This record gives sequence, C-alpha cells and structure tokens, in this order.
Amino acid sequence: MRRLDQLLANLGYCSRREARDWIRSGRVTVRGKVADDFGAKAEPRDVRLDGEPLDHPDGLLLLLHKPTGLVCSHEDREGPNVYSLLPARWRARNPLVTSIGRLDKDTSGLLLLTDQSELVHRLTSPKHKVPKVYRATLATDQPSGLATLFASGTLMLEGEDAPCAPAELNILGPREAHLTLTEGKYHQVRRMFASQGCEVLTLHRPRFGSLDLGDLPAGQWRELPLDTFDHEPHA
Ligand code: URA
Repeated sequence: MRRLDQLLANLGYCSRREARDWIRSGRVTVRGKVADDFGAKAEPRDVRLDGEPLDHPDGLLLLLHKPTGLVCSHEDREGPNVYSLLPARWRARNPLVTSIGRLDKDTSGLLLLTDQSELVHRLTSPKHKVPKVYRATLATDQPSGLATLFASGTLMLEGEDAPCAPAELNILGPREAHLTLTEGKYHQVRRMFASQGCEVLTLHRPRFGSLDLGDLPAGQWRELPLDTFDHEPHA
C-alpha cells in the first residue's frame, strides 16, 4: 500500500505538490471511487488517473540494446547516458531506473535496466555468477594459449587483489572471439585481452544469463516480466 501523492510522484507523473492538486480535483480513483484524500493509501494497481491505469505501477524491468557512445552513469558530467533513450516519465521515477551492472561507453549490447534495487543487488552480486557473453574484435591476432590462460582462474589484472575467475574463450577467428565471464571487474574484457598484448577494437554483449539480444535494434528496448529472474539458476 502506498500513499497516493507519493505514488504519483514516485512513478514520475508530477511533483508531490502537483499530485495533491490532482487528487483534490478528483482526477484519481481507487477501485473506481474518487479518492480526494491525498494521504490515503492504496495498492498501486488499484489506482487510476483520469480513468487510466498507472504506468507500470509495480516496477520496470527492461532489456535494452545499448548503442555505443552512451554511458550507464546518471552523472551528467560523464556525458550522454542510456537513460536518455527512455520516456521522460520513466526517467523521473523514484527509485531511479538504473542499469544492472554497466557497459563501457564504447561497448554495445544487452543491458538490463530496472527500478527494482533488490534485483540490481541480486544480479550484480559476485555470489550469483551470472554468465555474460561478450564478442570482441581485436587489433592483432590472438596469441596461442589464450583460452587455457583465461580458463585457468589465475590471470591477475593490474590493481586487482584477486585473479579473474575462470572464463571461457571461444575463438571465432584470429581477431575475433566470444568471452564468457561470470564476474564484472572494471573494463574486464578489455583488460584481460590487453594483459596479453591484444587491444580490443570493438566489444558487444549479445547475452546476459539466459537472455539474448536477438534482433533488437540498437537503442531499442523490450520489457521483461518482473519475475524473469525468479527461477534463473544463476541469479
Ligand atoms: N568488459 C569491458 O571491458 N567492458 C565492458 O563494457 C564490459 C566488460
């Protein structure tokens, strides 16, 4: 149950003060009855504004095809961000819609966005080891033995105090590979290749856990049910 004025403000419709005006003027109903007490509590899905159900009253979970050139941070000083792709009302929600983990500005691919903080914690926790698949193209040929090294669980990256967890490298060509990670150290894919003298030219994430980007165009998203990860073996 949520207070009506808080509910409208938190779903990004308006300020709390505007919500109170809207409620006083009879625009809001709960189970079909006009609710003129802005402090009254209701289940979000029972509430209507101007006769319309509220926009995703129980929360949002989105699968976005992140294009390159956008950051996952909300900080304006870090440049244009992925949230700019979303409708204004979703950007104004509280809790904020945020990414589950991050992709670099220069990385494209599958990025999950949600306002469910519990889900962010669950899916980014090192305990849960969600497999994430990256496709990298490289400036030079891969040295031999790379797959064995990445799978060994012994590769230590500069500035880290634990080695990289075993990762699976599937070589697609001399300068192209899929790398599957179950963790997310800072710039991990780029740093793993760089540690062996290979510069990553392009990086794309087609898969996250059991989810696949499919043919979703860059910059577009699709909605996922909020219980998508309730039965995931890795989540
Ligand atoms: N590893 C990277 O280097 N960059 C990403 O965006 C994700 C994983």
